Amino acid sequence: MVAGYSEIAKDMQALKAHPNIDDYESQRENWNWDSIWAELDTPNGLINQAHECIDRHALGERAEKLAMIWQSASGEIENYTYADMKRETDKVANAFRSAGIEKADRVFFLSDRIPELYFGVFGALKLGAIAAPLFSAFGPEPIKERVQRAEGKVIVTTPKLLAKVNAVRDELPSLETVIVIDHREGTEVDDRDVAWSAIVPNASEEFTIEQTGAEDWSIMHFTSGTTGLPKGAAHVHNTVVSHYATGKYVLDFHDDDIYWCTADPGWVTGTSYGMFAPWSNGITQVIDEGGYSARRWYETITKHQVTVWYTAPTAIRLLMKAGTDVARSHDLSSLRYVMSVGEPLNPEGVVWGLEAFDLAIHDNWWQTETGAIMIANYPVMPIRPGSMGRPFPGIHAAIIDDEGNELTTPMIEGQLAVKPGWPSMFRTYWNDQERYDSRFKNGWYLTGDKAKRDEDGYFWFVGRDDDVINTAGHLVSPFEVESALIEHEAVAEAGVIGKPDDVAMEIVKAFVTLNDGFANTRELLRSLNNHCRTRLGPAVAPREIDVIDILPKTRSGKIMRRLLKARELGLPEGDTSTLEED
Ligand code: PRX
Repeated sequence: MVAGYSEIAKDMQALKAHPNIDDYESQRENWNWDSIWAELDTPNGLINQAHECIDRHALGERAEKLAMIWQSASGEIENYTYADMKRETDKVANAFRSAGIEKADRVFFLSDRIPELYFGVFGALKLGAIAAPLFSAFGPEPIKERVQRAEGKVIVTTPKLLAKVNAVRDELPSLETVIVIDHREGTEVDDRDVAWSAIVPNASEEFTIEQTGAEDWSIMHFTSGTTGLPKGAAHVHNTVVSHYATGKYVLDFHDDDIYWCTADPGWVTGTSYGMFAPWSNGITQVIDEGGYSARRWYETITKHQVTVWYTAPTAIRLLMKAGTDVARSHDLSSLRYVMSVGEPLNPEGVVWGLEAFDLAIHDNWWQTETGAIMIANYPVMPIRPGSMGRPFPGIHAAIIDDEGNELTTPMIEGQLAVKPGWPSMFRTYWNDQERYDSRFKNGWYLTGDKAKRDEDGYFWFVGRDDDVINTAGHLVSPFEVESALIEHEAVAEAGVIGKPDDVAMEIVKAFVTLNDGFANTRELLRSLNNHCRTRLGPAVAPREIDVIDILPKTRSGKIMRRLLKARELGLPEGDTSTLEED
């Protein structure tokens, strides 16, 4: 038995609410997605994520219930009921229509977490357009690659972030319109762009949602692969069925909960669980524009009496570093349930939750492609610290070998796979069907993660099966960083790896070789750093850059990132028989 296990079994008592999931085993056995569908409002078989999350509540008993408590970076509060959300999103949908946006158009959002970002995404969904939120810390290069890949027609952004769009707009032939959310900053908007204040405030407050079916496109998030540029994982309106179900049974939403998800909508957690899961369940959520600080976060919980909290291991490690005393000096007694996702949650993190909040932290696992939680720890099940938990009822997860055969012997390492057919499964990588098809084998969706399953069906994360870097829960493609580095005049070749880090799990580390005539000086390193931060933005740029004489490559010329990593960490180099280097 794992240390702390019996203690954590008691955590059920701390839930302070009867869990929605009564009995995992029977729920699993009797699972039926049709009965979940029946809990939603799907007239004539139509389904729209905005209707499920907003209109059906606004038109029913929850009209005057708070949907969003928004806290600005400087601490001002704005409250929006479900009726307010309906009115605002109806106006935006009308305004977007007047700006020429049509069904299936790709509408990108590059914005900090302000209410208009949320109104905008749901406005686009009401129109049947495809919402594609980007992380506001992206530099021009990641923005360009993503808009190009999806042939984005519109970018909705703020005056502060507009310069990054302007830096690349000449290279975006598909981009027709830039809408600038101007009113909060009171800025003049250039004639070539459309001002939010010119189209939204006077738009009609009534909008009839476009008729969308389960398989109509809804949202796209970009995710990184080992090779090639980021891929746009596209989802359909049916996804909300999984959001609703996992919100109810994993996040354990109850009608009186105040929920806070710390993720940004530029990443999938910030939409699936920062928009769709809470609002499809009709609950109240806090949205904080501000960034991380231990005090700010604890004060946010206290001030808004947050009951259910969904965060990430990097944040938990930062809170642990800040000290249990800091947690204990705040009244966090409103909390009843805490969850984490995005990276492995160390057993210490799970147990620290008990020290700091009297609550164990419940880990769960999923991906951009899966759209919703696939494996989780549930309120009614003892936690095994370090395990991601057990598959969501209705999800069949397995460990498979290279041929796609299920490995049933406990604790054998293999690839984590999921049986296709769940509602929130991605339906394509936009403009890259071939790569999409390559993610399926022998009737399984291949997750690209390595894992083990124990004799009781708990899954244990082992590592990724590729070179993708997970830094603070954000996936970064080494290829994307290498491509930016070799654009610098001094760089001949670049190899990029994830270097283990105590807090962020991994940081992005680059190795470069130089062109003739360039020397490894402090100025050069500064110039490389500046280049990366400007082109890629702080979320993607390497934290460390080393100049080396030669990059290890295979005979076919492929940079051996694994070898770079082994050398960096002083680990055995493994099989180097295909190495080209002398
Ligand atoms: O490698 C796994 C890791 O994050 C990847 C998914 O990242 P992304 O597509 O950005 O989706 C974010 C939504 C969660 C996975 O393939 N990962 C996610 N959750 C966990 C995890 N690794 C270990 N434990 C987890 N709980």
